[in-house]
Amino acid sequence: MDILVTYFSPTGTTKAIARELADQIKADYFEIQPEKPYTAADLNWKNPLARCNREKVFNRGIACREKIGNFSDYEIVFIGFPIWYYQEPGIIDSFVEGYDWTGKKIILFATSGGSDIQRARKSLEDKIQGKIIAAKVLSGSAEIEEWVDRLDRILDFGEENQ
Ligand SMILES: Cc1cc2nc3c(=O)[nH]c(=O)nc-3n(C[C@H](O)[C@H](O)[C@H](O)COP(=O)(O)O)c2cc1C
Repeated sequence: MDILVTYFSPTGTTKAIARELADQIKADYFEIQPEKPYTAADLNWKNPLARCNREKVFNRGIACREKIGNFSDYEIVFIGFPIWYYQEPGIIDSFVEGYDWTGKKIILFATSGGSDIQRARKSLEDKIQGKIIAAKVLSGSAEIEEWVDRLDRILDFGEENQ
């Protein structure tokens, strides 16, 4: 198996999409978690002093709890996250900075309250040496299925393909 679906999902929406996606393409999955989990209060963006707002300003160095041991085995890596402030959460930056992406095919997906993923894609393109080949906001099963069909034409998901 050479496909990995990684995701960050403090309130579970992106996780549901990620698991369904991983099932559909028979990929491994890995949850990106911060060393210190987010509480509901941490995510209350209406409070200017909430953790999410502090991290928005001081975006750097949000430690990840675990490292992927066999990262080099994967040829295709999906990265999923909620859109925060129109782009990727800071922990995604920490996550991507922790690995060598050279030669990887990278696919981004997100959930959001309506914002698209283009700003996150641009931001991550500056931080990842690998090639981001697709990026999409996903909201449900039918959409995942349709997207997987389209990706299948770009990538080889089947074992028979090298
Ligand atoms: C701190 C914070 C910032 C957010 N900023 C945006 C945003 O800019 N645009 C948007 O459409 N949704 C925004 N949202 C909503 C989330 O993207 C959306 O609820 C997402 O599906 C949550 O995914 P999760 O359950 O995997 O955490 C924000 C949520 C939080 C907690």
